Amino acid sequence: MKIWAKRLVLLCVGLLVFGLPQAWAGSTIKLGVVTKPGSAQNVCAEKFKELLEARSDYQVKIYHSASLGTETQILQQIQMNTVQMGVITAGPFDVFVPEVRVINYPFLFANAQEVDQILDGPAGRKLLKALEKARFKGLAFSENGFRHLTNNVRPVHTVDDVKGIKIRVMESALHKELWRLLGANPTPMGWPIYTELQQGTIDAQENPLWVIWTYKLYEVQKYLSLTGHVYSAHIDVANLDWFNGLPPKDRELIQRCMQEAAVYQRKWNRDNEADFLSKLKAAGMVVDEHPDLATFRAKVADIRNLDIYSGKDIQAMLQTFME
Ligand code: PAF
Repeated sequence: MKIWAKRLVLLCVGLLVFGLPQAWAGSTIKLGVVTKPGSAQNVCAEKFKELLEARSDYQVKIYHSASLGTETQILQQIQMNTVQMGVITAGPFDVFVPEVRVINYPFLFANAQEVDQILDGPAGRKLLKALEKARFKGLAFSENGFRHLTNNVRPVHTVDDVKGIKIRVMESALHKELWRLLGANPTPMGWPIYTELQQGTIDAQENPLWVIWTYKLYEVQKYLSLTGHVYSAHIDVANLDWFNGLPPKDRELIQRCMQEAAVYQRKWNRDNEADFLSKLKAAGMVVDEHPDLATFRAKVADIRNLDIYSGKDIQAMLQTFME
């Protein structure tokens, strides 16, 4: 081997053994969220930035307001490591990691306590681990919240009222299937969707109350039904290879800061929910606080048996996840 080649090999070995920690110190982490400042995702991202920058030399640059494209596109950029981290809604993950479908199931969680019990327990850890198949490091679950239906056609009290409504759904095969089963006419789209609602390309959408308030959807949607049909998590992730290449103490710190940010953000979301509802009422939305959910549940019971992803046994997956 030529002398320069030997030196190169020695340098690489040296960098791997001793040099990488220094190489990372002070580096800038790019973090993507699709939503705008003041949104639930941004609250988590900003808390993470504050904690990590206070405790290390890392800088966190948050790319927000769809500046990196849709959530699906941000996930692709994280996979390519052009963006290192993201706070992303669980919905679009299910195309990358089918196991995520289990937490997007309709009417799976009864309340926030049940959510915390499952996502902070062994099932949540199993799910974060499953993300590694798609080269994501799952760090924590922050939250979007329980999703509710808004539309501009008619008040929705029973599932029959949903019939034929053109609804925007997340870029998620499960969500599309759900609204098809409920009798609506679903179209998957990225976020945001104000213009589409304003122009009538779509009649309806479904999202937690903070979204309806922050994105002023009350200006273009008259009816709100508190269906809470799906609990929507945010999954806080990093590129797996980038993360694994960091020194162990940095990995531990990044994980801890994101977990703390997620706990802070879940509380922020829950503390503000009642306030968002009052504001939406005051803004003139017609709210059905007690829609007939039994009619919805009856229609979606079959979703557990559907083969929406290449013949995978959804029921078995759900069982394993809940064990
Ligand atoms: O509907 C969505 O795409 C998501 O719920 C949103 C608005 C990006 C928040 O996570």
